[in-house]
Amino acid sequence: MRHVLYIILILLTVVAVGIGIAGRQGRLSRKPPIEVFPDMDRQLKLRPAQPNDFFPNGLSSQLPPRGTVARSEPLQTVTGPVYAFEDAPVNTGRVTGTTNFVETNPLPVTGQLLQRGRERFNIYCAPCHGALGDGNGINKKLGVMSAVANLQDKRIVEMADGEIFNTITFGKGLMGAHGPLVPVADRWAVVAYLRALQLSQLGSVDDLLPDQQAAFKK
Ligand code: HEC
Repeated sequence: MRHVLYIILILLTVVAVGIGIAGRQGRLSRKPPIEVFPDMDRQLKLRPAQPNDFFPNGLSSQLPPRGTVARSEPLQTVTGPVYAFEDAPVNTGRVTGTTNFVETNPLPVTGQLLQRGRERFNIYCAPCHGALGDGNGINKKLGVMSAVANLQDKRIVEMADGEIFNTITFGKGLMGAHGPLVPVADRWAVVAYLRALQLSQLGSVDDLLPDQQAAFKK
């Protein structure tokens, strides 16, 4: 029994001394570390815009072949075309260079945009917020979600378009993020349609033209 203990002690001492001599000593080494799994650290590939003999023009980067289809089109905003990678209100909902939300929709509000917005709203928002946006969607009736925001509230009517865009993108409280589901242009279409919904509930007879008012009162 005793010598087993001695063997363990000797082993521990050897390990401790070994680590003490060969272990990390705080010196930097220029030699590459031992690689057990190289993890594709080194690859046979061309770095962009470097000299290279393979192609006739002597460069690693080549122009796309003729007829290549672009992966993304810019969105046509009221201030001109904007690509998805740009730091612009249409992509962020905020005034560029600030954290302020943009007041108005950066996309031109056309009948087509409203149509699209109505379709998307009815798919993505109405189940919770209701077809009128008043918070009485089917999920409330089914008891899935009881306290859903009423989008006809004064607070949300007065909210900047950019903040609603931001809520759709990232969600809020119990509401999940819809950015991954609803592309940027569709989010603005939903914002435009929501404005139309709010107008439909907040309008009064006085907004109508006189002859329309007369017809309405009949
Ligand atoms: C799964 C249910 C659900 C869906 C789907 C949903 N919402 Fe909501 N939404 C909520 C709930 C719940 C709240 C209240 C969140 C809170 O204040 O905690 C809310 C809040 C909001 C608010 C108010 C945010 C604020 O600042 O108080 C807006 C605006 C809104 N939703 C717009 C939308 C739009 C537009 C869509 C469709 C793209 C949508 N929601 C889809 C459940 C949903």
